[in-house]
Amino acid sequence: MRRNIIVSFLILQILVVSSSQSAPGFDFFYWVTYWPGAICTSQRGCCPPAKGNTASDFVIHGLWPQFNNGTWPAFCDQTNLFDISKVSDIVSRMEKKWTEWGVWACPSNETKLWEHEWNKHGTCVQSLFDQHSYFHTNLKLRQNLDLLNIFKQKGIKPDDGYYGLEEIKNAIKGELGFAPGIQCDVDVEGKKQLFQIYICLDNYAKEFVECPYVPDRSCGSKIKFPKSPKKDYLAESLSVMASI
Ligand SMILES: *[C@@H]1O[C@H](CO)[C@@H](O)[C@H](O)[C@H]1NC(C)=O
Ligand SMILES: *[C@@H]1O[C@H](CO)[C@@H](O)[C@H](O)[C@H]1NC(C)=O
Repeated sequence: MRRNIIVSFLILQILVVSSSQSAPGFDFFYWVTYWPGAICTSQRGCCPPAKGNTASDFVIHGLWPQFNNGTWPAFCDQTNLFDISKVSDIVSRMEKKWTEWGVWACPSNETKLWEHEWNKHGTCVQSLFDQHSYFHTNLKLRQNLDLLNIFKQKGIKPDDGYYGLEEIKNAIKGELGFAPGIQCDVDVEGKKQLFQIYICLDNYAKEFVECPYVPDRSCGSKIKFPKSPKKDYLAESLSVMASI
């Protein structure tokens, strides 16, 4: 009898623990990266960034909890706001892969972007992540997913060329098993171009999943993959230096 009580108590504890773990309070994650080449050519914000930024690769935007109905939780906790000292050991990696190209702040300010990502999205996923593991998880995803290389293997390159939207999605589907969402913006001539990629993960950010919901992200059936801004801006600043 006593043993039965202990056993049921244990089972109850297991149920309580596992149910609190299986209910992060949202349905899935978007992991979002953006292409710096689509920022300078859209004449948005300020470009190039204030700090020396040599990104010629996809840059992290953030990891966002989502509901299946297309809405999301945001700014869930004012008592645990971004504190850069909590990520001091990974800040140098963040500076390389999670830079701000002047879309969200002008002059560009990565700290502001990180602060926004944690305060808006990170505070809603504290059942899974603290500040350090939230940022570290993003870096790990970025490290494991070489999107530029996945595209290159399918002949899709940032060369100002036009590629089929389905071709772009299928390149990633071939690697992850699931198609991403693609968000476009427009260049100065009004041409649609690749801007952000939304990859869907389960609500533990462990497995890739079929996106339960992909918003209409205003791409055409063919979109431009703009060149990396790196060389242009380097060339420009060199010629400015030469003319001084
Ligand atoms: C979407 O789903 C969430 C979570 O179930 C719910 O809180 C929210 O009210 C829903 N929003 C709409 C617009 O249906
Ligand atoms: C960048 O943003 C952070 C966080 O909002 C702020 O503390 C800092 O002063 C900003 N830096 C500059 C140069 O504006």
